[in-house]
Amino acid sequence: MELIEAIKKRRSIRKFRSDKIPKEDIYDIIYAATLAPSAHNKQMWRFIAISNKDILREMKRAIMNEIEEVSNWQELKGAGVKVKGMRAYSTFFVKAPLVFAVLVKPYHSMIDEVLKLEGLKKGQAELLRSQVEIQSVAAAVENLLLAATEKGYGTCWMCGPLIAAPALKEILKIEEPWRLMALVPMGIPDQEPKPKIVKKIDEVLEFID
Ligand SMILES: Cc1cc2nc3c(=O)[nH]c(=O)nc-3n(C[C@H](O)[C@H](O)[C@H](O)COP(=O)(O)O)c2cc1C
Repeated sequence: MELIEAIKKRRSIRKFRSDKIPKEDIYDIIYAATLAPSAHNKQMWRFIAISNKDILREMKRAIMNEIEEVSNWQELKGAGVKVKGMRAYSTFFVKAPLVFAVLVKPYHSMIDEVLKLEGLKKGQAELLRSQVEIQSVAAAVENLLLAATEKGYGTCWMCGPLIAAPALKEILKIEEPWRLMALVPMGIPDQEPKPKIVKKIDEVLEFID
């Protein structure tokens, strides 16, 4: 498949057939992810390929519990209903034959030390250096999605589940300094997504000649 074809074909898939995914495909897809660019080539990523249904169900339970709890927060006033609306959006991965958990670890550079000397707090410093670890791992995730598309799989990049990040970290035995960045369910698509509206090029591109 031509690269541009895979880019056009990739869509978020939220319904999957149950067919098991061969380990060989998992290796090929993660290999593509690991070829992504990363700040200082630090490759600050890791992937957990989860097909254990008990674990997936436990993850779903943790997310449902957290959504229930957050939706009852007094501060939300009427917005609790919206939080409840996140349930399906954040848990449909449970029916996929495979789910990748994408992990990221902090990137420390000389510039961090300089920023610290300037008396900046961690959050401010992170903003200044544009969260390079997140940018790096996002590039790896996109490679993963495109490699999966090329092999005929559907995927969905998911951050909704992170509402229960601490519980998911425990279930998946993720240790410091690793942080859960996204889940990506993958399987043979069992749906045809509706065409999507994409902004016109002129809305997003400008030239400085
Ligand atoms: C960072 C990120 C987080 C996302 N989180 C979720 C999610 O939790 N649940 C979900 O169903 N889709 C999620 N999506 C998918 C988007 O809804 C989807 O990419 C967007 O609607 C465009 O559709 P397309 O992927 O089919 O082109 C996420 C996408 C990105 C890039």
